[in-house]
Amino acid sequence: MAQIFSARADTRLRLAVIIGLAIAVLAGAAGFAHVRSGAAWAIGRPAPQPIPFSHAVHAGGLELDCRFCHSGVERRADAGMPSAGTCLGCHDRVWNVTAQFVPLRAALARGTAVEWASVSRLPDHVRFDHAAHTVAGVGCESCHGKVEEMPRTVRAETLSMGFCLDCHRDPGSRQVTAASAMRPHGLQARRHLHYGVEVSPLTRCSTCHR
Ligand code: HEC
Ligand code: HEC
Ligand code: HEC
Ligand code: HEC
Ligand code: HEC
Repeated sequence: MAQIFSARADTRLRLAVIIGLAIAVLAGAAGFAHVRSGAAWAIGRPAPQPIPFSHAVHAGGLELDCRFCHSGVERRADAGMPSAGTCLGCHDRVWNVTAQFVPLRAALARGTAVEWASVSRLPDHVRFDHAAHTVAGVGCESCHGKVEEMPRTVRAETLSMGFCLDCHRDPGSRQVTAASAMRPHGLQARRHLHYGVEVSPLTRCSTCHR
């Protein structure tokens, strides 16, 4: 029977298959690296805000306590956002005439809050609770980074499921950073022992998913 492919065509075909496989592997590795990197989670990218607010100025320079503007952190699931009135306490006279404060005056006139964009928002199927963490002594910095040094607020951690579970599996062993402005005491997670075996409710799906 006559050869269908010449020896040279055979070599070329093999080469094409090998190159094809190599490209597939590289593309897969690049995709994996992208997902593992911060880029896929928008780490370090500020959101467009109605007013160019700076934590570096207010929480850093002026040393305002986080709770001054986010009063829910110790009591509620939501950290809460400052009302327009909170800003006006200082910016009532001189500064509110500048263009930067137009959205603030508009919110005040409407009797609503300024519509800030979020850099931390989780999908709707995830439940989060600030009070549970703050009371346990987990500082803001563990999840939000050094906010008091940020001229524009950015996401510092992925806030992915893996990030949450990394700590929930064993919160006691983690180097937990206390918020410089809040200075909570050391981390003390509740431990549940059942016949001497530790069962952690912190890794149960229903803890974070409704
Ligand atoms: C003077 C008021 C004020 C103080 C004090 C303040 N913040 Fe904020 N914070 C804001 C405002 C306004 C925003 C929305 C604009 C922005 O994201 O920059 C915000 C946004 C945030 C966000 C992003 C929320 C989201 O939805 O993604 C985090 C995280 C945050 N603040 C943490 C802190 C921490 C930690 C401290 C203390 C170190 C602090 N803030 C102190 C006013 C304040
Ligand atoms: C405790 C007083 C105080 C409060 C409360 C406060 N600020 Fe300020 N803010 C200041 C001071 C002081 C400066 C000027 C800092 C500087 O120039 O170094 C400033 C600067 C600013 C600037 C920058 C102005 C510029 O020219 O760059 C913006 C924007 C601003 N604040 C917005 C806000 C908003 C929005 C809120 C409410 C969430 C707020 N501030 C609450 C005291 C305050
Ligand atoms: C264990 C991680 C974690 C810690 C610790 C933490 N946060 Fe958050 N924070 C989040 C997550 C996740 C969101 C987004 C919540 C959502 O979308 O439901 C968020 C949202 C916010 C928001 C947006 C508005 C809102 O009402 O929730 C602010 C402001 C905020 N955090 C401030 C703080 C401050 C201040 C502290 C420290 C006292 C703090 N956070 C500690 C994870 C954390
Ligand atoms: C640095 C450690 C750490 C990180 C990161 C962390 N947590 Fe937690 N979480 C804790 C501790 C500690 C508690 C409190 C445990 C206790 O009270 O015994 C807690 C409690 C909770 C609770 C309340 C459980 C209850 O009692 O109902 C929820 C919900 C939760 N975490 C969700 C999350 C989510 C979602 C993330 C990721 C966005 C996250 N956590 C990231 C340490 C962490
Ligand atoms: C400590 C909190 C926590 C626990 C416990 C947890 N999850 Fe999640 N999960 C998250 C967060 C946060 C996200 C959202 C990540 C993002 O922003 O996409 C998520 C997302 C998901 C998603 C959506 C797909 C994805 O990757 O975004 C699925 C499915 C899921 N979780 C299933 C589970 C199951 C099943 C369990 C129990 C074995 C579980 N989770 C336990 C925090 C948690």
